Amino acid sequence: MIISDKLKTKTQHLSESDIDLSLDLYAEIARLKKDMNAVLLAHYYQEGEIQDIADFVGDSLELARKASQTKADVIVFAGVHFMAETAKILNPGKPVLLPDLKAGCSLADSCPADQFKQFREAHPDHFAITYINCTAEVKALSDLICTSSSAEKLIAQVPPETPILFSPDRNLGAYLMKKTGRKMTLWNGSCQVHEIFSEKKIAQIKVTHPEAKLIAHPECEDHLLNIADFIGSTSALLKYVQNVSDKEFIVATEAGIIHQMEKACPGKTFIAAPPDNNCACNECPHMKLNTLEKLYLCMKNRSPEITMPEDIRLRALKPIRRMLDMS
Ligand code: 13P
Ligand code: SF4
Repeated sequence: MIISDKLKTKTQHLSESDIDLSLDLYAEIARLKKDMNAVLLAHYYQEGEIQDIADFVGDSLELARKASQTKADVIVFAGVHFMAETAKILNPGKPVLLPDLKAGCSLADSCPADQFKQFREAHPDHFAITYINCTAEVKALSDLICTSSSAEKLIAQVPPETPILFSPDRNLGAYLMKKTGRKMTLWNGSCQVHEIFSEKKIAQIKVTHPEAKLIAHPECEDHLLNIADFIGSTSALLKYVQNVSDKEFIVATEAGIIHQMEKACPGKTFIAAPPDNNCACNECPHMKLNTLEKLYLCMKNRSPEITMPEDIRLRALKPIRRMLDMS
């Protein structure tokens, strides 16, 4: 018997303690996916075991694209809230399930909609490009959404005389200003994971691994990007390690991406860049709220589900569509 008798009714929600430990969660998730005609989308920062059962693993832009193209009846999103919300904005008629609704993002939290509205009102002639790591309300107040892999291309399409507001990541914004030569007014937000890499500890790793290349996500601080051998979005970092002949890499982004790097490059070594604290890992605490158990439960319970007011969804859809069309 898989679940206890008291849980037999269909309407009852199961919780983690109700899961029979002998249950093959991989097989159950595969069965539920088929029964529901669901697609399972996962970000590179998810646990390896979740990435391995996903139908598609990608960066923010690729996942938004997949969500906009899917023919599945249900979208199960193994990522953080703003990512699942984007999938819902693009698919109002489909349930979008997220294993843990509390899987947030420090960047999205750093930009509350009421304050962003004031920021926009203080710069009425500016065009607002907003990183996808933000809430639906903030998207609804933006002119164009971007991701780390699409931002440069999108900025290049804004007429040079148009002033730009870039929100909410000050590090990505500063990096893009350098890359594009375009001055932008930045929101003062940051990612808690990418801001804590230790240059000193990276230098120590370089002593024992002198050939290792430092690769970094543009959400990292300027001082770290200045010493990086390559800077790119999660998918750009993944492509880079496959295309170069180097054998060792220090990876300055969330450690989940190393799972795909090791799968793609079995002979190469990937070292997670250590943070400037006592912790040895660089995991996003929000991404890691999703577990295989919660993934199974959200499909079994068909909950938690992403919902939002229709007026916000419609306003948020415009700058997302614009991004998908322009990138
Ligand atoms: P990517 O767009 O590179 O996948 O980054 C998403 C993210 O949350 C980085 O912290
Ligand atoms: Fe947000 Fe940073 Fe986690 Fe990415 S790694 S989801 S930006 S908190």
